[in-house]
Amino acid sequence: MTIYRFPSNFLWGAATASYQIEGAWNQDGKGESIWDRFSHTPGKVTHGDTGDVACDHYHRYPEDIALMRQLGLKAYRFSIAWPRVIPNGVAPLNPAGLDFYDSLVDRLLAANIQPFATLYHWDLPQALEDKGGWQNRDTAHYFADYTAVMVKRLGDRVKHWATFNEPGVAAFAGNLWGEHAPGIKDIKMALQAAHNILVAHGLSVQTIRSLDSQLQAGIVLNLWPHEAATGSPAEIAAAEKSWQEGGDVLFLDTLFLGHYPVAGWQASGANHPQVAPGDMALISQKLDFMGINYYSRVLVDASGERVRAEGAEYTEMNWEVHAPALYRLLTRISREYRLPPLYITENGAAFQDTLSADGKIHDPRRESYLREHFIQAHQAIQNGVDLRGYFVWSLLDNFEWGHGFTKRFGLIRVDYETQKRTLKDSAEWYAGVIRENAVE
Ligand code: FCB
Repeated sequence: MTIYRFPSNFLWGAATASYQIEGAWNQDGKGESIWDRFSHTPGKVTHGDTGDVACDHYHRYPEDIALMRQLGLKAYRFSIAWPRVIPNGVAPLNPAGLDFYDSLVDRLLAANIQPFATLYHWDLPQALEDKGGWQNRDTAHYFADYTAVMVKRLGDRVKHWATFNEPGVAAFAGNLWGEHAPGIKDIKMALQAAHNILVAHGLSVQTIRSLDSQLQAGIVLNLWPHEAATGSPAEIAAAEKSWQEGGDVLFLDTLFLGHYPVAGWQASGANHPQVAPGDMALISQKLDFMGINYYSRVLVDASGERVRAEGAEYTEMNWEVHAPALYRLLTRISREYRLPPLYITENGAAFQDTLSADGKIHDPRRESYLREHFIQAHQAIQNGVDLRGYFVWSLLDNFEWGHGFTKRFGLIRVDYETQKRTLKDSAEWYAGVIRENAVE
């Protein structure tokens, strides 16, 4: 049996996001976020679920860190809820909110777990949305001010800072498809939101650097390679066209080449965003790392239409399970862009778990999903990709945005009635991978 051993300092972790797990949506001075507003609006989220309580992590984080320790996690990726620390987005600060993250970080370090902070995982203060949200360029400056608050408070202990999680989803799911907060459906607004988020990223990176040049500043992109269903030349061309015009290349090109992709800019016609002088240099400044969230790929036919993979396994999200595309993605982007060190900042799968009579959750499909993807990541490292770590999505079952609590991604099951946590079989297996630093 082959043993795939990882580099000795490879960072194994798990990831979460504030709105998906914290709960305590209006406690201890926290302000309203656009996700509070969105989930409280009837018809937006399956079953009317909200993150009001979620996994109650705000109160149970010591227990959750004890579980992380039990798994042997070397790193933990979490996000900070901007309106918890600055309720209206600008001022004043909320001391209780700052204390929460302070204590979270202290406890992680005491458990020997490296904290990786994300500044924005989609929960914009509603007060800023009321002033135009990401349409308003001022939001980018408020984001830089918020960055400074957090770095001053935690930068002595948190070394890795991601500005944004999946700017593409924030911009397009939130402003074009209307499936996420704030629920807008307008292409011009979506493209302007994407641009202003990129400006906010640039200002935030400058802020981090100006406060402490030793800190590691980065961003997290979700990347879905576009591939040909059967591999005919016409399909390969269609897949390439759809990749070049899509949202992933928009962020890769702006961040790492310093310009908008030619095909995408042309395709957007009169809807393209307003770009101020100096923006592109600001957006494309050097980063210390990039996080990649990889779940699946987009499969297209010769006319560029999305198709299903015949005979393939699909997860509860209706996402194809296809690990080899992770290898192809990592090697391709490493060839085509001058990238900083990489982390897989999210990878995992939602399956319909059942609690067995023995009190356990036997989830072999999640385990094999992770195993296959770990092996592809290993192959990429063997072929020269500078991949430094891997965060499984997610530590806990949690609030899956528009799907509410219906999709379970956790290594750890959460009973939402009782808040009881139970390690799934995949979690026990993952603990073994971390211990051995290898996959069999
Ligand atoms: C990603 C998000 C994360 C989670 C997973 C399933 O797009 O970053 O919050 O919802 O998908």
